[in-house]
Amino acid sequence: MISQETIDAIFQATHIEDVVEEFVHLTKRGVNLKGLCPFHDEKTPSFTVSPARNIYKCFGCGKGGNAVNFLMEHEGMSYPEALRYLAKKYNIEIAETQMPEEYEAEKQERDSLYLINEYAKEFYRNQLFNTDLGKSIGLSYFRERGLLRKTIDAFELGYATTSRDELTKSAVHDGYNIEFLRKLGLTTEQDRDFFFNRVMFPIHNLSGKVVAFAGRHLVTDKKSPKYINSKESDIYHKSKVLYGLHLAKKAIRKEDFCLLVEGYTDVLSLHQSGIENVVASSGTSLTVEQVKLIKRYTQQIRILYDGDTAGIKAATRGIDLVLEQDMNVELVLLPEGEDPDSYIKSVGVTEFKEYLEREASDFILFKTNLILKEAGNDPVKKAGLIKDIILSLAHIPDPIKRSVYTRQCAELLKVEESILVNETNKVVSKRLRDNRISQLRENRSDHEIQEKILEKERKKAVAENWQEEKTGTDEYQERDIVRILILYGDRQIEVEKEKLTIAQYVLSEIQETLPFFDNPLYAKIVTEYGLALSEGKQLNTDHFIRSADSEISSLAIELCSSPYELSENWQKMWDIRLETQPMPDENEIQDAFQALYRFLLRKYQKMSEENLKQIKEFQSNGDDESLLKHLQVQTMLVDQRNKIAGKLNTVIL
Ligand code: GTP
Ligand code: MN
Repeated sequence: MISQETIDAIFQATHIEDVVEEFVHLTKRGVNLKGLCPFHDEKTPSFTVSPARNIYKCFGCGKGGNAVNFLMEHEGMSYPEALRYLAKKYNIEIAETQMPEEYEAEKQERDSLYLINEYAKEFYRNQLFNTDLGKSIGLSYFRERGLLRKTIDAFELGYATTSRDELTKSAVHDGYNIEFLRKLGLTTEQDRDFFFNRVMFPIHNLSGKVVAFAGRHLVTDKKSPKYINSKESDIYHKSKVLYGLHLAKKAIRKEDFCLLVEGYTDVLSLHQSGIENVVASSGTSLTVEQVKLIKRYTQQIRILYDGDTAGIKAATRGIDLVLEQDMNVELVLLPEGEDPDSYIKSVGVTEFKEYLEREASDFILFKTNLILKEAGNDPVKKAGLIKDIILSLAHIPDPIKRSVYTRQCAELLKVEESILVNETNKVVSKRLRDNRISQLRENRSDHEIQEKILEKERKKAVAENWQEEKTGTDEYQERDIVRILILYGDRQIEVEKEKLTIAQYVLSEIQETLPFFDNPLYAKIVTEYGLALSEGKQLNTDHFIRSADSEISSLAIELCSSPYELSENWQKMWDIRLETQPMPDENEIQDAFQALYRFLLRKYQKMSEENLKQIKEFQSNGDDESLLKHLQVQTMLVDQRNKIAGKLNTVIL
């Protein structure tokens, strides 16, 4: 196990934005960073990263947490895996508090699979560089293809020798479980090596771990396929992997576009030439998951197709998927007989880049032109192809973009725009209907979403009750006080020439109300804070975010990241005009005072309501003495209430 000191050091070193940026394209928005939420589908960014708080939060789907939570949720890492990942990232040495053997025993199957792939990768690398066959066949092949050592190293290329069981034997000898080797497809059911006499291309996941291999044969043997791949396993789902993305992601984000090519060697070749924002869908036609992977880093995809008929055919396939994700797609068709690898070799980087700029064409227009060329003067053919274009147009989710394209297509195809619009709309509305139905189905089976809806309904009901019956719980007011304490408790303020922290001031003001807290969690937090202060200890936001009490830590994260949602409730409840402040951070002192006054106002209001009830009772049973006393109390309470209301107004203005 990782020692607590190490965990602390890791948390201390971690910057949430560094971690998230590896996976999500973020842009600066005030003090925060925003991006498209990786946990749910969205078109406008509601995923927010707060460097100051070291947390993330999505206002769309509600997911939130710290860097460790992010890695667990996003990368499917376990808690220790996430810590180790961060330790590696920030060069923190891990102190274990448990024997490595025990740790080994705890490791899950996935870890073992990764380890074996790592082993195999090293094995193939060793074969490539340190065996005669490797050097004379594998390495010389790579050299012939113009690959430099640094590229071979970056992509961790290797070589599988002609032996039929060397890897399997070696791995088993070194203590690896043959069952796992079979699961990864490295070893066949007959206990032989799956890959032999091939140059090896490890396929990595986003964090650079090897999930699978592709092996290219070196003989032009028509019978065996040029490439063979590891079979799918618990760690390899081919539709969810893009070749080279782990090395390309930084450049993709930086350039804000992604080049998509067909072959492994195209990726290697462009990367070596300094074009690093390049990935390959490697053999499979592009999948939704792959598009979504790219979308984490950029909205622009430029797809390079080999200049042959297969390339052109491929160009019109699969792209609807990309359009559907609201990505901007451009296509580039390479000159006949060329693929990116051969073309960049023949013309050099500069001309290659210029070619891309010159030839890049919008997908829809590309397809339309293709249709025109293909159909020639054949009206039947043309009609069929127009249907095809309509289907593509219908995949564009943004209606404005769609209408621009529709107009251009109509012009190019020389058909009435209105016809194209009508037909497209039919397809769009059918698609929307289908989507809604499948969404409903998904939702129904999705327990979590249902829970969320219920929770929302419940909250709404509570809020509505509130407005009718003012003697309900003081949920909102108490929450507001807790919010102020957690977020700004440690800020310095000056009240009547006395310097103190917001927590000191707020807690002293609400002292008497402490026994009357309705919500036990809020009461606990306020009490804990009070105790800490009395011991001379000032708490801060991090204290609560890191709390071992998960109820407290998730509340803290929630509060750190929720916009100023309470204001509206207050406004409704008290008919007080409040300025909605999207960034209470910038106005925390005013915010704190407001919260405090609203809280006190609520408490006095409640007390006076209680008192009024009693007054009515005394009136009806003729207890004049008690009546008089309570009338005096009432005057005082109303007085207090008005005073606070007055303060609240001055604070608001
Ligand atoms: P080189 O011929 O070495 O330049 O490889 P390439 O990457 O350019 O291959 P090619 O253009 O022929 O094919 C593009 C991609 O399709 C390859 O990178 C592979 O991912 C995939 N592919 C090609 N041939 C096969 C095959 O026989 N089997 C499988 N599974 N995939 C293949
Ligand atoms: Mn090629």
